Amino acid sequence: MKDKFVLVGVTGGIAAYKAAEVVSRLRKLGADVHVVMTKEAAQFIAPLTLQSLSANPVHVEMFAEPKLWNVEHIALAERAEAAVVAPATANIIAKLAVGLADDLLSTVLLALRSPLFLAPAMNHWMYHHPATQENLKRLRERSVHLIGPAAGFQACGTDGDGRMSEPPEIVEELERFFRGRQLLKGKKALVTAGGTQEPLDPVRYIGNRSSGRMGYAIAQALQEAGAETVLVSGPTSLEPLSQVEHVPVMTALQMRDQVLKRFPETDIVIKAAAVADYRPAVQSEQKIKKQGEGEILHLELIPNPDILAELGRSKTRQVLVGFAAETEELIKHAQDKMLRKNVDLLVANDVTRPGAGFGSPTNIVSFLFPDGRRIDLPQQDKIEIARKLVQEIAVLLGVKGVKEEI
Ligand code: CTP
Repeated sequence: MKDKFVLVGVTGGIAAYKAAEVVSRLRKLGADVHVVMTKEAAQFIAPLTLQSLSANPVHVEMFAEPKLWNVEHIALAERAEAAVVAPATANIIAKLAVGLADDLLSTVLLALRSPLFLAPAMNHWMYHHPATQENLKRLRERSVHLIGPAAGFQACGTDGDGRMSEPPEIVEELERFFRGRQLLKGKKALVTAGGTQEPLDPVRYIGNRSSGRMGYAIAQALQEAGAETVLVSGPTSLEPLSQVEHVPVMTALQMRDQVLKRFPETDIVIKAAAVADYRPAVQSEQKIKKQGEGEILHLELIPNPDILAELGRSKTRQVLVGFAAETEELIKHAQDKMLRKNVDLLVANDVTRPGAGFGSPTNIVSFLFPDGRRIDLPQQDKIEIARKLVQEIAVLLGVKGVKEEI
């Protein structure tokens, strides 16, 4: 954490007094801590306390410092290497979910481009209100890291989850993040994502239901871990990721070209794309017209090259990760694919299970290794799975210290 610029946001909940310990612990670890608090938070804990502990000015009012205000929120957001809001009330969570910027803290957070951590703290029933749960879901999908909340007695008299996680846990999460950023530093990674589209004519194609979410989450997790990351993506509705080289492709053959040409200088390849196994033998230059009434249209399909199998045959030092999307006999088919394609790690998922597979924000997967090891992960957000996958890849690459962390 030494000299890391960490922004600490404090919002108005009873747990605000615990922000003092968060700030103090971060400072002891050597972080350069800058506090932004809401006016409500300043009712619970004096800005002077946080100023003394952080040894930096505390920012509360958007317009309090006329000489600085017009650049303040941008400057803080630009310089932050990570931000943590502790406690994060239901209100700031809702504002972040919709992008409201009506005070200094929400404005800074809207301009933030580095990772954001939230430690929610609120009444148990506020936490479980569908509106709060929907907001948290949206934020998780945008890769915001949630810490807690914990369960236990609450100041309002209820008992249940909603309490802010304890400061040591919050700080540990940030520490783990900064350590994780070094995990794949200096490594080159390539991810394929989305489904390929194989044109039949100028307006039609053969495709599949892949949304690209799993692959995009993996590219993000690799980038977070410090790898120089390339994302070769079939057509999806997802936005390109910042700090990841985006290579759009449409067909399996285009994907193959882009992957093979980068393979020799790549250390890690993750083939999350749903590649079409076949393409139309003929691509009609004009729109195929409807046949006569009741007449059957026959399409001739020819096989596409299996990109992963090709990589498996030619790999030297690379760590190769494949996916198996199955609808039956998951582990049997997945093990077969792992051996057939000579991969170092295979991610198997049964796409028919609720909460798993194409289009879903969550997934249920197993990691399979050629030495017979298997890790079954419970249902969780794709980004969480992606981060665990990155840790396993670091182990395969022999990165020191990962095993202890897992
Ligand atoms: N794959 C690939 N090139 C292909 C087909 C698949 O690189 N032409 C890769 C996928 O990106 C994935 C893995 O191989 O990492 C498994 O894909 P999947 O479609 O599950 O397997 P297939 O080998 O196509 O087998 P099947 O469709 O019969 O299940």
